[in-house]
Amino acid sequence: MRPQRAAQATGRRGPRWGRYGWAAVGTAGALWLGVLGVQAAPSSQQDVPRPGEPPRTGGAYWLGRYCAGCHGARGEGTIIGPALAGRPDGPLSYETILYRVRQPLLLMPDFPPELLPDERVREIADYLASLQSSP
Ligand code: HEC
Repeated sequence: MRPQRAAQATGRRGPRWGRYGWAAVGTAGALWLGVLGVQAAPSSQQDVPRPGEPPRTGGAYWLGRYCAGCHGARGEGTIIGPALAGRPDGPLSYETILYRVRQPLLLMPDFPPELLPDERVREIADYLASLQSSP
C-alpha cells in the first residue's frame, strides 16, 4: 500500500498548518539571524579606525558597540535595559556582568565568547566601574 493510501485509509489528513508552519519558522529564523548579523558583522575591518577616530577598542568602545543601544552610552540605562552604572548598590562586578552577558534574560541577546571574549567583558566592567566612581 502506498503511504498516501495508508493515510486515506486511516482517515488522517495532513497537518493543516504544514505548508505555512515551516514558512513561519523560516521567517523567524531569518529575522533572528538578521539581528545577530548586525552584531556579528565581520570585525577585522571594523576594528581599524579611520584617521582621526578614537581607537576601536577598550571598555567604552565595547560598551558603545554592543550594549549602549539598550543600556545607554554611559550605562545609564534606557527604556529597554536597566542601568549598568550609577547603581545605588555599587558597581556591578565583572562576574555578574560576565554571567548576564553569557546567560541573558528577556530581551537581552546572548553574547557568545567568539563575539565578546572574557577580556572585553572585563574592559566593559572596568569602564562601568570607573563611571561609578566619577559620575
Ligand atoms: C537588546 C537589548 C540589550 C543589549 C544589546 C544588551 N542588554 Fe543587557 N539587558 C537587557 C535587558 C532587557 C536586561 C534586563 C533583563 C536581564 O536581567 O537580563 C538586561 C540586563 C543586563 C544586566 C543585568 C543587570 C541587573 O540589574 O541585574 C547586565 C549586567 C547586562 N544586561 C549587561 C549587558 C552588557 C555588558 C551588554 C553588552 C555586551 C548588554 N547587556 C547588552 C537588554 C540588553
